[in-house]
Amino acid sequence: MIRLLYLFACVALLLIAGCGGNAADDSPATGSAAPPALDPQRVAQGETIYAERCAECHGASLEGEADWKSQNADGSFRSPPHDASGHTWHHSDAQLIDAVRLGGARLGPAAGGTSAMPAFGDALTGDEIAAVLDFIKSTWPAEIRQYQWEVTQQAHP
Ligand code: HEC
Repeated sequence: MIRLLYLFACVALLLIAGCGGNAADDSPATGSAAPPALDPQRVAQGETIYAERCAECHGASLEGEADWKSQNADGSFRSPPHDASGHTWHHSDAQLIDAVRLGGARLGPAAGGTSAMPAFGDALTGDEIAAVLDFIKSTWPAEIRQYQWEVTQQAHP
C-alpha cells in the first residue's frame, strides 16, 4: 500500500513538473502568430540611419555605453544597448517610437533620471523611425523578436 502511494505521488509530481515546464516557457502571451517578416530594403535604410544618428551613443554594434546601468554624475542615464542584453525589446512599438520621436524630454521626474537622448521627431520622418527600429529588430534572436511582437500586440490588440 505504501509502495502504491509512493508511486502515485511520483506520477503526480511528474505531472506537476510537466505543467510547470510549460508555464515556465518565457513567451508572455497566448501563442500569438510569428512577427511579420522585415523588408530587407527598409532594414538597410534603417542601418544607414542608425550608423549616422544613433551609433555614437548606442554603439556601432548596438552594445550601448560601458557600464550603462549606472547613471552619470549629473543624474542622467547612459545609453542602453539595443541588442539582446538591453531592454529595448521589452517595450512595445508605440513606446519605442515615442522614445525616438521625443528623446529624453519624454522622461518626467518619476523616471528617476534625465537623458541626453535627442528628440528625432523633426529630424526623421515616421517611416525613417520605423526603418531604424526595423534594423534594430533585424538583429534580435528569434525569441526576443517574438517577445517584443507579443508585447506590441498586447499594447494594441
Ligand atoms: C546623445 C546620445 C544618444 C543618441 C544620439 C541617441 N540616443 Fe537613444 N538613448 C540615449 C539614452 C541616454 C537613453 C536612455 C534614457 C532614455 O530612455 O531616454 C536612450 C534611450 C533610447 C531608447 C529607449 C530604450 C529603452 O530600452 O528604454 C530607444 C528606443 C533609443 N534610445 C533609440 C535611439 C535611436 C533609434 C537613435 C538614433 C535615431 C538614438 N536612440 C540616438 C542616448 C542617445
